[in-house]
Amino acid sequence: MAKVVILSGAGLSAESGVGTFRDSGGLWEEYDVSVVCNYNSLDKHEDLTIEFYDKRRAELEFKEPNHAHKVIAQLKQEYGSNIAVITQNVDNLFEKAGMSSADVIHLHGFMPEVRCRSCERTYDIGYKNQSKFHEGLCPECSGKLRPNIVFFGEQAPMYEKLSEHINDCELFIVIGTSGEVVGVNTIAQFTTRSILNNLEPSSAIEDTLFSNVLYMKVTEAIDEIANEIDEFLA
Ligand code: APR
Repeated sequence: MAKVVILSGAGLSAESGVGTFRDSGGLWEEYDVSVVCNYNSLDKHEDLTIEFYDKRRAELEFKEPNHAHKVIAQLKQEYGSNIAVITQNVDNLFEKAGMSSADVIHLHGFMPEVRCRSCERTYDIGYKNQSKFHEGLCPECSGKLRPNIVFFGEQAPMYEKLSEHINDCELFIVIGTSGEVVGVNTIAQFTTRSILNNLEPSSAIEDTLFSNVLYMKVTEAIDEIANEIDEFLA
């Protein structure tokens, strides 16, 4: 699997105007995560949950990839399977930066998609409200649809891909994540080299475990990160 793993979080898309979760003014300050992003949200608060994701999906239409998305897309184009691009983000900014959806591992789902709650088929509905796609029902089996997002307490099947890539990873790069959900300390401990780029220290990340720590905006750090990858893979 990949020699270089780039694991990103909401901070990667912050400069594109996509809100983070735990920064001040973040999404979880505005919405109750236990209502709109929990395994029982659809049973207990179906309308509110669907409305929450419809709103975030519609906003995506007007968000553009920033310099960091474009540099990472370029690196993936250049180095192919030597780099794994793994993100906790559910936005489509890597895809808008030219990456094929096969080249981006979305650990927590993908906002432009909905999933049938009965047959599990997924459909890309772009930026529209779920109810505007086949009246909110599965075209195949007429089951109820839901956002194709991993809620807290639910299975996250793509984590298997993360651990497969981590096994062979020699350069581990963490960008724009508080580390509150995907633990990064253990991975950093066992890779040859590791880079951490966040705006500021996070209580969930032990930055002394990283070879290179960049507390600055990702759009300012990404060129240095790209240089390290070039040197590592040259
Ligand atoms: N450049 C670099 N880092 C940034 C920037 C930026 N411009 N802006 C914010 N950050 C950093 C912050 O310092 C913070 O460490 O991004 C991180 C954002 O942390 P969170 O809001 O916790 O987002 P994330 O780590 O992606 O959350 C993980 O939690 O709620 C769930 O499923 C959701 O995938 C999400 C997961």
